[in-house]
Amino acid sequence: MACSNLLEYRGWVYPSQIYDRDKLEYIYNEFQVRDQDVFSITYPKSGSTWIQEILTLIQNDGDTTISQTVPIWERVNWLEPSIFSLDLDSLPSPRFLSSHLPVNLFPKSFFTSKAKAIYTVRNPRDVLVSLHYFSKVAGFLDELDNIEELLPKFLRGEVFGGSWFDHVRGWLGVRDQVNLLILTYEELLQDLRGSVVRISNFLGKELNEAAIDSVVENASFKIMKNNSMSNYSTFRKDILDVQKGSFMRKGISGEWKDHFTPAMSESFDAAYKEEMKDINFKFIWDQ
Ligand code: A3P
Repeated sequence: MACSNLLEYRGWVYPSQIYDRDKLEYIYNEFQVRDQDVFSITYPKSGSTWIQEILTLIQNDGDTTISQTVPIWERVNWLEPSIFSLDLDSLPSPRFLSSHLPVNLFPKSFFTSKAKAIYTVRNPRDVLVSLHYFSKVAGFLDELDNIEELLPKFLRGEVFGGSWFDHVRGWLGVRDQVNLLILTYEELLQDLRGSVVRISNFLGKELNEAAIDSVVENASFKIMKNNSMSNYSTFRKDILDVQKGSFMRKGISGEWKDHFTPAMSESFDAAYKEEMKDINFKFIWDQ
């Protein structure tokens, strides 16, 4: 992935085909967050779509009618990309919204609201691998680099989403000031049922056992991969072309081990150790 088609905005990097400065500025300065809003926040390739599906299913008490008939981007609307021109102000509450924004670009009004946000983090090594394959499917990313060439750019934050380290540090840094549930992709994989219960408790939504069973079943990788309303097969082909590779690709953790040479691992670990040294938070992959 080259930087040629990437827009730099206040130290962050986004694909210029689907993001623009005006919308980013509007979202930061003017977008009015409501107390009833629920956000899913992620660095790209960290499980955004998975959380969107889980939120839809929880909101519908496990009923699959909406998740099987309405495209995922219309159920949990994206906040900042400019390709989505829907007027979010016209949506009734509670709004379910998705964002890749870091703390310092997120709507200012969020920080004085009672809105809830779920921040999902994934092992950055697997994020890097997922991003590499995603660049083959995404028309808005140049598909130039192999994983080895992408690695130093990822560590410098010169990829879609900017610096993973800054993103994670930023959101962890405000976790005691806002209504934030922190999850990891790996916990979702290890214990989807427990994670669904945590999310529904956080939302104050009571689900019976049958509803929880249905959320867990229908948010499984297999069912989502075959759900044309969730796998992006019906999306604009110039933006995402799943003929070139799957959006729902592997859905596993630890794939990086098949792609990192010992030298890549060493440079990643050194950067990770330095960048995360002041973080008082143990991720599942740190243990
Ligand atoms: P891989 O490319 O490693 O397969 P995002 O939605 O933030 O773009 O993240 C996409 C990643 O989440 C992809 O990872 C995709 O396969 C994975 N994913 C989506 N739904 C999933 C599910 N139900 N179970 C496991 N992984 C899932």
